[in-house]
Amino acid sequence: MIVDIINKKRLNQELSYKELDTFFNGYLEGTVTDYQAAALLMAICINGMTDEETFALTKIFIDSGDILDFDELGVLVDKHSTGGIGDKVTLVIAPIVAACSCPVIKMSGRGLGYTGGTIDKLESIPGFRVDLTDEEIYEQVKKIGLVITGQTKDLAPMDKAIYALRDVTGCVSSIPLIASSIMSKKIAGGADKILIDIKVGKGALLETEEEALKLSDLMIKIGKIYHREVRCKITNMNIPLGYAIGNSVEVKEAMDILQGKERDNYLVDLCYDLASEMVSMSKSISKEEATKLVKEAVDKGYAYQKFLELVKSQGGNIEKLPLSKKEQYIIAHKSGIITNIDALELGKLSVSLGAGRTSKDSKIDPKVGIKLHHLVGEEVSRGDTLATIYVKSKVKLPKSKDIFEIEKKSSLKKK
Ligand code: URA
Repeated sequence: MIVDIINKKRLNQELSYKELDTFFNGYLEGTVTDYQAAALLMAICINGMTDEETFALTKIFIDSGDILDFDELGVLVDKHSTGGIGDKVTLVIAPIVAACSCPVIKMSGRGLGYTGGTIDKLESIPGFRVDLTDEEIYEQVKKIGLVITGQTKDLAPMDKAIYALRDVTGCVSSIPLIASSIMSKKIAGGADKILIDIKVGKGALLETEEEALKLSDLMIKIGKIYHREVRCKITNMNIPLGYAIGNSVEVKEAMDILQGKERDNYLVDLCYDLASEMVSMSKSISKEEATKLVKEAVDKGYAYQKFLELVKSQGGNIEKLPLSKKEQYIIAHKSGIITNIDALELGKLSVSLGAGRTSKDSKIDPKVGIKLHHLVGEEVSRGDTLATIYVKSKVKLPKSKDIFEIEKKSSLKKK
């Protein structure tokens, strides 16, 4: 009985492949209810899973749908991020990597918890289609070398259903659930090599480096079972990535980076690093050689052109990127150097504006979001605008001191 499976996990006992298969396929078929699935997921979050259970769950997710095969296109490298606040890295690096002549088929997800999702961001471009069929994906990658689309209906559909339920039941931060969710999609999606950006910090699904290392080990082990090279990068998510948090605002920032308008900040460095890693994996060349190609692709404008080709090919109109005209501002409460910006608080604010979901069926508002005017390390004066908040209608904003830590220059010198 289904309830026996839930009880077994509640008592921290190992579930067999058969039990996991019965439960999760039952959920997909509708014989296991949302509340039963939520109960099991919460028990997994609390008690964890053994490696064997995680491998089994990954296989069940993979087998729930199609397994794509793009062997004809050469070595396909895919990248996945565990999700962060202001994480628009995919929007930047997918066109860069494609502009370096490495084919990219990126199947992305929606926002999870307070972290945004690439698909929600791309949908803020009017007309942009994120539901390409397998045939369309194939045709487009052959034509322009780049596709960013949602998980197709038939690709790991069980992960799609479980992911949406985890999002609204506090079940996102579980290492085995994250590992099986990510790896099932990447393997079913036909990636030969997989780069995972594991975010750690207050604005991420995982808060400690120790958890990130466990996730990394688990995903590398799953990769070995399926003969896929997996590289993991553990990157900081205590402060938001770049200036924009939201959907259309993040698309705009990604375009600025691709045009070389934004340089020398943590986000830009991260984008160059991850893009170089992907190019190095795809072409089997050194990271140094790959970095040269990446820089050239941006400097010569090829990467931005590739982004525009992508938007056009998927039906989007970039001229019509919406942004609310209603603005509110967060003003500096004192003068000094910004020593911290609380990513989690900004993530919560952006969800409360309507840029993320609070229930499975919430609709995202593409026009709302946050634009920071200053990053960590910059000097500001009391009364300066620290952030513009694009709202649908007037909201109560958090206080500047609850988000921005500012220290007087003199006290910093003493430290
Ligand atoms: N990204 C995913 O695809 N799945 C997770 O569970 C977390 C991040």
